[in-house]
Amino acid sequence: MPVSFAPPPLFLTLLPLLSRLLPSLPPTVRDVDVPPLFRERFILSGYRPVGLTWRCYVLSLFQIHNETLNVWSHLLAAACVVTRFLLFTVLQGGGILGFRLQGPEGQGFSLDASSLPLVLYVFSAVIYLSCSAAAHLLQSHSEEAHYSLFFLDYVGVAVYQYGCALALCVYSSDAAWRQSMLGQIFLPAAALLAWFSCIACCYAKLRFRRPYPLHRKLCQVLPMGVAYLLDISPVAHRLATHSWTSNSALPLHGLQVVVLFLLSAFFFSCPIPERFSPGCYDIVGHGHQLFHLLLSFCTLAQQEALFHDFLWRRPALLREFGEEHLLLACASFPCLAFCCVMTALTMRRRAKEQLMKEQR
Ligand SMILES: *[C@@H]1O[C@H](CO)[C@@H](O)[C@H](O)[C@H]1NC(C)=O
Ligand SMILES: [Zn+2]
Repeated sequence: MPVSFAPPPLFLTLLPLLSRLLPSLPPTVRDVDVPPLFRERFILSGYRPVGLTWRCYVLSLFQIHNETLNVWSHLLAAACVVTRFLLFTVLQGGGILGFRLQGPEGQGFSLDASSLPLVLYVFSAVIYLSCSAAAHLLQSHSEEAHYSLFFLDYVGVAVYQYGCALALCVYSSDAAWRQSMLGQIFLPAAALLAWFSCIACCYAKLRFRRPYPLHRKLCQVLPMGVAYLLDISPVAHRLATHSWTSNSALPLHGLQVVVLFLLSAFFFSCPIPERFSPGCYDIVGHGHQLFHLLLSFCTLAQQEALFHDFLWRRPALLREFGEEHLLLACASFPCLAFCCVMTALTMRRRAKEQLMKEQR
């Protein structure tokens, strides 16, 4: 009789290893047991102690604490974004979008300017999701790590803002918007605003101490809000001038813009629902978690809409924008990323100086 020895699934081999490592993690503590910098209003328990080894924080991915769901939501979203993109490229005939192994003139390797913005969009989404997951997972290590990792998080957000702006401008705009004043200055303005909102967020994080004044949130939310309004203007114009059912991408754009983002902006700025019963939503259900979930759905809906628009616009793209213009717009992406990383590094140095001064 044939006997088959199927190898045990991966998680079954990992499980004993994990259960050996996890007990070495100290239990979570209450808010009064961590320095004020780490405390979150209305969240009373589930804090990981500060000052453990990096290994403990990495392993805390499998522990139950106040950030477990914040980390996993963005990790899973990143995996979904990548999987969906790979599926799309395979369904579109294989190969890696953005590159051609065979140039138009025959042999060789060439950039495909018409799909590069889509690749950059997906890349920027993965960057912001993983920076945010890393920040939430590791920031409890020390005050210095807390600042550095949140600055990194803001770099991810800025990069994603420009990734969105670029893809929406290239694939999702209509001719009337492109010829308008806004359409003409859109990409440089989006890049500048993305950088500015990174600077403002880092500054507000570094400058204000608990109890946080209102203008800290304003300092973070206003530049991002303005950048968001600008970045969605290509689709906002389309949503305002076309019937939402006229095209398969429009309902998805509408869903993304109106429902998800307004809601996530709300949960980002208000500690709801935890303010109504402090301590009840420490592990599951606090506002920042809802914000993460909504943002993840937002990104997936937007990616889906962009795939539709991409297929629709691609044939005429090179003619309308010109290859050089497209490549220039894509080249601004690494430039923006570089500026934001430099900003974060500068702010990190200032945070270190500030922490040294406080210790004296
Ligand atoms: C969770 O606890 C960490 C400390 O481990 C703290 O820095 C963070 O602000 C808390 N997050 C929430 C959402 O309560
Ligand atoms: Zn977050």
